[in-house]
Amino acid sequence: MPLFRLAHLSDPHLPSPLTLGPAGELVSKRTLSRLAWRRKHRQHDPAVLGQISADITAYAPDHIALTGDLTNFSTQAEFAAARTWLESLGPADRVTVSPGNHDALTADAQADRVAAFGPWFGDGGEAHFPRVRRRGPVALVNLCSAVPTPPLLASGRLGEAQLERLSQALDDLGREGLFRVVLLHHPAGAGVVSRRKALADGPEFREVLRRHGAELVLHGHAHEAVFGVVAGPHGPIPVLGVPSASAPSGTQHAAARWHAIEIEPGEGLRVIARGLEARSGEVGELGRYALPGLSAGIAA
Ligand SMILES: [Fe+2]
Ligand SMILES: [Fe+2]
Repeated sequence: MPLFRLAHLSDPHLPSPLTLGPAGELVSKRTLSRLAWRRKHRQHDPAVLGQISADITAYAPDHIALTGDLTNFSTQAEFAAARTWLESLGPADRVTVSPGNHDALTADAQADRVAAFGPWFGDGGEAHFPRVRRRGPVALVNLCSAVPTPPLLASGRLGEAQLERLSQALDDLGREGLFRVVLLHHPAGAGVVSRRKALADGPEFREVLRRHGAELVLHGHAHEAVFGVVAGPHGPIPVLGVPSASAPSGTQHAAARWHAIEIEPGEGLRVIARGLEARSGEVGELGRYALPGLSAGIAA
């Protein structure tokens, strides 16, 4: 069976106008988030994102997985800009987007988010996550862990109903013999991020994976490289997180990176980490890893 080439990037945090809202919005979550963002917006550089996008385009992947946080404050203007950027990354049937907490900052953002990113969430018109896409030997199982949260929290939740549908989908796709790649924004492993930022129903999610299985889980949100595993029914399931695709070198988080994931069903998979090289400032290969066979992880 031919190799399937999947590109994974996350957390582009596209630039947004840093204007405060009307007086009535002064205590809103968006405003608090803007104030926090003023302190750390230098952690994201659109020029770096351009370098990463160009490198992915040059790789010519079969599919691109983007695990959330396209925006910062979930405003209409940001969703419109994010959609334009998505269109430049690739057509909706070649790119799958899992929403992040910054894309769901407030409850009223949901309709705007669906309108902007809907075609990138999945095929067909299903109303609920997970959205499943079949591409050759691979099934992309796209979850939504993004929920509005109280100010200064960045936690996620999948919810009972989504986990129930996930269990069924994993069983069905496993029976079809497809290579199941689960996408979500929040880290799947325990303790990867603080409780304030974690998946509230992480234990329940890991129990679904342990019982129903998957071949790979991809996430973002941590803004760090994460190479880990969670338990599956027949052995460990690899879990990979990538740093923000727009992070310059020299911040408190890892510099921008994306993963080329080469899947050979029945043979395993190879991960090629590509990202900003500290010395040259260019995007190059940082390392390649065969999975399974994960150990402690790789340098961030
Ligand atoms: Fe993020
Ligand atoms: Fe996030």
